[in-house]
Amino acid sequence: MCGIVGYAGGAQAAPILLHGLKKLEYRGYDSAGIAVRDASSAHIEVIKAKGRLDRLMDMTGGGQAVCGMSGVGHTRWATHGEPSAENAHPHYSREKRVVIVHNGIIENYQEIRDMLERRGYRFHTQTDTEAAALLLDCAYAGEDGNSPQERAVHAIRTTMLRLQGSYALGILFHDQPDVVYAARRDSPLVVGRCTGEAHGHILASDVPAVLSYTRDVVYLDNMEIARITKDTLDIYSIDAERISKPMMHITWDAQAAEKGGYEHFMIKEIHEQPAAVRDTLSPRIVSRNGAPDTDLTETGLTDEEIRRIQRVLFVGCGSAYHAGLVGVGVTEALARIPCSAELASELRYRNAPVQPGTLCVLISQSGETADSLAALRLCKEKGMKTLAIVNVVGSSIAREADAVLYTHAGPEIAVATTKAYSAQLAALYLLAVHLSSRRAAISPAQKQELLEALTALDGKIKQALGEKTRIQRFANTFAACRDVFFIGRGLDHALCMEGSLKLKEISYIHSEAYAAGELKHGAISLIEDGTLVIGAATQPQVFAKMLSGIAEVKSRGACVLALSAQADDRLAEAADFCIGLPGTHPLFAASVGVVPLQLLAYYIACERGLDVDKPRNLAKSVTVE
Ligand code: M6R
Repeated sequence: MCGIVGYAGGAQAAPILLHGLKKLEYRGYDSAGIAVRDASSAHIEVIKAKGRLDRLMDMTGGGQAVCGMSGVGHTRWATHGEPSAENAHPHYSREKRVVIVHNGIIENYQEIRDMLERRGYRFHTQTDTEAAALLLDCAYAGEDGNSPQERAVHAIRTTMLRLQGSYALGILFHDQPDVVYAARRDSPLVVGRCTGEAHGHILASDVPAVLSYTRDVVYLDNMEIARITKDTLDIYSIDAERISKPMMHITWDAQAAEKGGYEHFMIKEIHEQPAAVRDTLSPRIVSRNGAPDTDLTETGLTDEEIRRIQRVLFVGCGSAYHAGLVGVGVTEALARIPCSAELASELRYRNAPVQPGTLCVLISQSGETADSLAALRLCKEKGMKTLAIVNVVGSSIAREADAVLYTHAGPEIAVATTKAYSAQLAALYLLAVHLSSRRAAISPAQKQELLEALTALDGKIKQALGEKTRIQRFANTFAACRDVFFIGRGLDHALCMEGSLKLKEISYIHSEAYAAGELKHGAISLIEDGTLVIGAATQPQVFAKMLSGIAEVKSRGACVLALSAQADDRLAEAADFCIGLPGTHPLFAASVGVVPLQLLAYYIACERGLDVDKPRNLAKSVTVE
């Protein structure tokens, strides 16, 4: 979703803004723009273009043609108003007295627009953001603080209190040279101190945009305001009081956010899954009295609290929700606690009754998904204990949950999640083993068996990657297909949902995931000669049922690709193609089963010549509702 960059310092701003925006491209966008203030002429130059950032690069000679040492930049993912140069950010008031870039949605923009029009303001775009720009202009004009700084902070504060919705803002005032302001409510913003040639300060929606200049950042919290210049970084509360916040040091390797020789981020990230799973699991599997044990101290859950849990509620969106469905199956099987998974976007408006003793597990790669954040707040409000499984350190969900279990997948850039999903599964398995052993729902021998299987899981995922050439061949054959069905039972149904989502989002092929036993209740009428059906058969207790399910679709003309770890002649006969999966504990089979499904989606999208890492209409981090 929209990306913001701001810079004030000793170097030319435009190349830094463009470089930062490039690093935020993964978030998804349809237009881009920058505003740079030339201190000598007091002129703010605004350049905007529809389409890829390269266009803006060409228009500005990579930024070299724009003079000035402070500015803001933006990649826009359209919400209000079509993608166009006019609707692209920055937006500004008359004579560019106030220039802003915005990530989020201003919900009451129409009301603000009407009010401002009555006061003589004129609007030139269809965006909600222009209402925020003009409202800030109006507030700034009405402020009579002691200093420009005080006026600006008070005007921003007044504007923030009036705006409803979510926003991260980057702001320039025409009469404040070499200063950039920022403010946030429910949309992320980090501010970093740059050293070296770019000496100064930089702000952005996400860390990759600042990593070339700094590793020392402050995460802005909700309803905070920042002011950056070459030499200073000031942060204010919504009461306009100066506050001090600790700098955090980013430890990632900048290379981790580069393609490293792969054609796309997605295929690189698929290959990084063994490491993501190992790094998530290994620090939390320790040796106690000669046997492996879980160490989940970071969840803050005492053994007594664990014994009192009555229900576990897994919440997320998209793939994170699919991981939650696996969490349900594994936790119920091992810990014997009733569990359910909810889509965050549904939970927030469902007024679900709260069961005392519910542990709410929020799952999110970005930690910034608007629906998941709102669901987290709701669960907290209702008195639930909340545990976040999050990949991005310091993100909103990580900060607001009672406790965090970080996944260690590293930065994930491709819009289609792969390694973060796998790391989420790993964290959920660990949690399930931990809860079940602390509740004495499994024996020490079972625990040992499960933890040994987890320790070997990265190797199994690596083995599953070994099938990629066969999968690529298969993908090339089926790249032109129109509909695909994924069928499975139990944990395989959750796996199928993830496989189907991967295919849909990057190949634009219609696909559905069905519980295999449910197909005959309606959807089987869609199966015709040549329909591709992917059957997942990793669960021994329903293996025979899956054979029947596959036979049912086969006899109606389907072409079946089966996935199984079980070498069984009956499956080989029933299906047209089989992909053998490495054997693991059946409860952890989604982790190996997902690999061929990710590869299939990837190679089909490549064969169709699509933009794999940045599929149409999608954003990496969905920070609006
Ligand atoms: O950052 P989050 O994990 O909260 O994101 C949730 C979904 O938006 C995300 O999983 C989405 O479904 C992916 N694009 C799927 O590949």
